Amino acid sequence: MTEVVLQARGLDVFYGSSQVLFKMSLSVHKGETLALLGRNGAGKSTTLKAMAGVIPARHGEVILHGKPVQGRASHLIARAGIGFVPEDRQIFPDLSVQDNLLIAVKPGVDGVDDWSLERVYDMLPLLAPLKNRLGGQLSGGEQQLLTVGRSLMGNPNVLLLDEPSEGLAPIMVQKIGDLIEALRKVGTTIVLAEQNLHFCLGLADRAVVIDKGADVFVGTIRELNANSDIKQRYLSV
Ligand SMILES: Nc1ncnc2c1ncn2[C@@H]1O[C@H](COP(=O)(O)OP(=O)(O)O)[C@@H](O)[C@H]1O
Ligand SMILES: [Mg+2]
Repeated sequence: MTEVVLQARGLDVFYGSSQVLFKMSLSVHKGETLALLGRNGAGKSTTLKAMAGVIPARHGEVILHGKPVQGRASHLIARAGIGFVPEDRQIFPDLSVQDNLLIAVKPGVDGVDDWSLERVYDMLPLLAPLKNRLGGQLSGGEQQLLTVGRSLMGNPNVLLLDEPSEGLAPIMVQKIGDLIEALRKVGTTIVLAEQNLHFCLGLADRAVVIDKGADVFVGTIRELNANSDIKQRYLSV
């Protein structure tokens, strides 16, 4: 087994007095795409936000390259190597595409700077001709590509993608799928939160299924696809 890049161990998360994660755990290995699958409201976004430090976990650990990072501010967790692409594409509408990318430049851990503007445009060819367009003038799909590109500019060790295909037209869903595949080919480590198992089939190596805030299945994406009991109980398929 390859090196574990990021681990959530026993996360308990509350919104006010209501608990939404219950000892949630997952591990993602170097270079793999891990699908985090579950129905709407299962706790996928909360799991990603807790790992990115956007919301606090009351108990449990987030381990990045063997070191605990839980409790740190989200910008410090980003600096430590976790790139979080939230579902509500937080681009700057009044900045150009290029400036949205440049504002996110940050060296990776240990000075790694794999990603340049040129390489991001190579990876996201739809964005290159739009570089002078304002963020707010992009379509939803283009904004989604831009949020991923922005995250890459920060040279993350692991990329957390929260339902990147949600609400997009089929052609853009295909583009997002192509992008995830291309990122995996260059060795990017990815956690892909999704409701749609079908979307993950050709993209993910392994899957964790979350239901009511707890991990209820872990296995290869093929094992999951072959397990009609788990699929019927926990996924909308
Ligand atoms: N800001 C919030 N305040 C209170 N409850 C929330 C908040 N965000 C999410 N929840 C609740 O937490 C649970 C998990 O939500 P979420 O992590 O968004 O699930 P998913 O991403 O799998 O759809 C749901 O029951 C949801 O209603
Ligand atoms: Mg969500």
